[in-house]
Amino acid sequence: MKVLVIGGGGREHALAWKLAQSPKVQSVHVAPGNGGTELDAHLQNLALTDIKALRAWALDNKIALTVVGPEGPLAAGVVDEFRAHGLRVFGPTQAAAQLESSKAFSKAFMKRHGIPTADYETFTEAAAAHAYVDARGVPIVVKADGLAAGKGVVVASTLKEAHEAVDFMLAPDPQFNPLGVQHNEGGARVVIEEFLPGEEASFIVMCDGRNVVALATSQDHKRLLDGDQGPNTGGMGAYSPAPVVTPEVHGRVMREIILPTIRGMEKDGIPFTGFLYAGLMIDAAGHAKTLEFNCRMGDPETQPIMMRLKSDLFDVMMAATSGALDRVELVWDRRTALGVVMAAHGYPLQPRKGDAIEGLPVASEDAVVFHAGTLRREGVTLTAGGRVLCVTALGDTVRLAQQRAYEVAAGIRFDGAQMRHDIGHRALRA
Ligand code: AMP
Ligand code: GLY
Repeated sequence: MKVLVIGGGGREHALAWKLAQSPKVQSVHVAPGNGGTELDAHLQNLALTDIKALRAWALDNKIALTVVGPEGPLAAGVVDEFRAHGLRVFGPTQAAAQLESSKAFSKAFMKRHGIPTADYETFTEAAAAHAYVDARGVPIVVKADGLAAGKGVVVASTLKEAHEAVDFMLAPDPQFNPLGVQHNEGGARVVIEEFLPGEEASFIVMCDGRNVVALATSQDHKRLLDGDQGPNTGGMGAYSPAPVVTPEVHGRVMREIILPTIRGMEKDGIPFTGFLYAGLMIDAAGHAKTLEFNCRMGDPETQPIMMRLKSDLFDVMMAATSGALDRVELVWDRRTALGVVMAAHGYPLQPRKGDAIEGLPVASEDAVVFHAGTLRREGVTLTAGGRVLCVTALGDTVRLAQQRAYEVAAGIRFDGAQMRHDIGHRALRA
């Protein structure tokens, strides 16, 4: 059978790589893909946002299953479009994708269904937002309502930062908005919320509208520099499992966050199908609150998670798209997987493109280099985006997985490459 993966990042390379291992899969196609998926699958030159063209291509090419990676096409309604034409697709509908695409929607949803999250207020008027910041004091968190590629959140430790964030995010013209926030219909809105202390973890599940299967837990490193310093990024590295999610925390998160969310969506008439990613803040007592929902897999969390998945992902996806996830039990490699992102010069603000990448190794049983912002031209792999590669390795311990990933990364070269040297530091301390 033929499978289509929509997206062009490291997450999609990992999904395509895993799907291609299924004996039932005849070919994997990735739209638009990258320099790595070109080696493992077929590239389709289709724009991510042109959902009608994607659907027409899938119909013409008799695609048996489509898996959607990023939030953009989901928020644009790609799942609705595919389903309306009888195509099997794994992902949430446009309405369900609001759990990610609108912070105001997801915060109101959580309040309505008693799902633990930070206290918050929503504002469209700058004056009221400024007054609220003054009344609550710092630390405080200011979030743009809309998709902002991880850049729409300011954790302010001074009043000045908080007030500036409000001004940027409510700026009428996004051109003058240095955070690059895409405003939702109805204009600019900010969510201002309580600062939550603790340790973050990524809790990702697969849903078929009613049944839920949890993926292995993981943890991401959002800041650019070692020691969690520097600006926020899409993620500089990740590993699985996350020791902070003990079996007890896992049970509590399922009971208090995941299941009420799936039930709540069903009750509200917008059943959730697809990957649901709860970004959690876990306090010292092991109580979790939801920082955000994403309606997709994490990037780079997918890369270590797929390295550990032993089950046939195609079978799992077929079950997930026929309401049969209650019959699925996922099998995981007991080892730790750890992925180190190599990013381009200038990332995250102005990533440079076109640097030649040398020393890319052949994949081995315990180490795979997933591509993100790369392309191939005349046999040469070039940088073509902010996050370029995610070097992912398995090891019997966190330390061994980390050593192996860094050993492989050390052999890869391109001008201006940036990477963190401490991926996994929390797990090593645990
Ligand atoms: P988000 O896109 O909502 O996940 O926010 C991006 C990052 O900001 C998160 O990964 C956290 O590190 C941080 N953050 C968001 N909300 C809060 C909060 N209420 N308290 C503390 N940190 C937060
Ligand atoms: N790695 C964080 C995310 O995918 O949102």
